[in-house]
Amino acid sequence: MRSYLKKPLEDELYRELINYCRGLKTGHFGAAVRFELLDLEPVGREEMRRLGTYGVIKGARHYVLGAVKEGPGALEDLGYTMEKILLKATNLGLGTCWLAGTFRRSAFAAKMGLAEDELLPAITPVGYPAEEVSAADRLFRFSAGSAKRKKWAELFFDADGETPLTETKAGDYREALEVVRIGPSASNRQPWRIIKDEAGAFHLFLKESKIYNRILGKIRIQNIDMGIAMCHFEMAAQELDLPGQWITDTPPPDFPGLQHIATWKCNN
Ligand SMILES: Cc1cc2nc3c(=O)[nH]c(=O)nc-3n(C[C@H](O)[C@H](O)[C@H](O)COP(=O)(O)O)c2cc1C
Repeated sequence: MRSYLKKPLEDELYRELINYCRGLKTGHFGAAVRFELLDLEPVGREEMRRLGTYGVIKGARHYVLGAVKEGPGALEDLGYTMEKILLKATNLGLGTCWLAGTFRRSAFAAKMGLAEDELLPAITPVGYPAEEVSAADRLFRFSAGSAKRKKWAELFFDADGETPLTETKAGDYREALEVVRIGPSASNRQPWRIIKDEAGAFHLFLKESKIYNRILGKIRIQNIDMGIAMCHFEMAAQELDLPGQWITDTPPPDFPGLQHIATWKCNN
């Protein structure tokens, strides 16, 4: 959602969201994450202009700001934990929008008292969606091809890394894969690829757009996407009572053009 009502969050929702944010400390790579829920109401006009989103977000009064300590897996951990916040907010009936590009990073970073070894990879507005969608919102969604997603055959594969994994062969994990597929990603590029091996493990890879992923320097935007995928897969598996976990220290064989991120091992 990119258009919001100016209405503040109800106290109870505010408290629930802030407590949820504070409870999240790290993801599967052990990087320290930190979240703030910012209220723009007390902020003056001048500062408000500095805290801009280049006109992309309209009307939002609250933002969640996501920081992480630099290190291996930092962007994945930020993506994984922050997506939990976006899902929580959605569950509370609120609108959100991942922003990693279109916001004034240094102004928001100052609001958070960012430490030297911390990054502020992303923020999201949280609030009540406006009934009328702004022109900027429509344009953004159109240019990113939002609502469209790649087909299964382009994303999920058998052990050889080439044969498409059919929904039937995905078995109990069909829905866990489906929620990865329909998830959000930066510019809707959908860089996640998953290979199911003969033992039934799911290997998650990044198919990186090299130039795009490096535009923001240390903030590798597509590694955030990978953390989001880990979050979706794991939460679906939990919902479906499929025991297992992400393992990050045992890479599978190499597949050309793909970077291994993590492997889901089923416990059965
Ligand atoms: C890591 C990440 C960064 C994003 N950054 C921005 C951004 O800077 N500005 C923006 O308007 N949308 C941003 N988005 C939202 C995507 O454009 C959007 O999720 C994608 O186009 C799919 O659309 P949908 O989520 O509406 O289906 C970002 C999404 C992700 C996951």
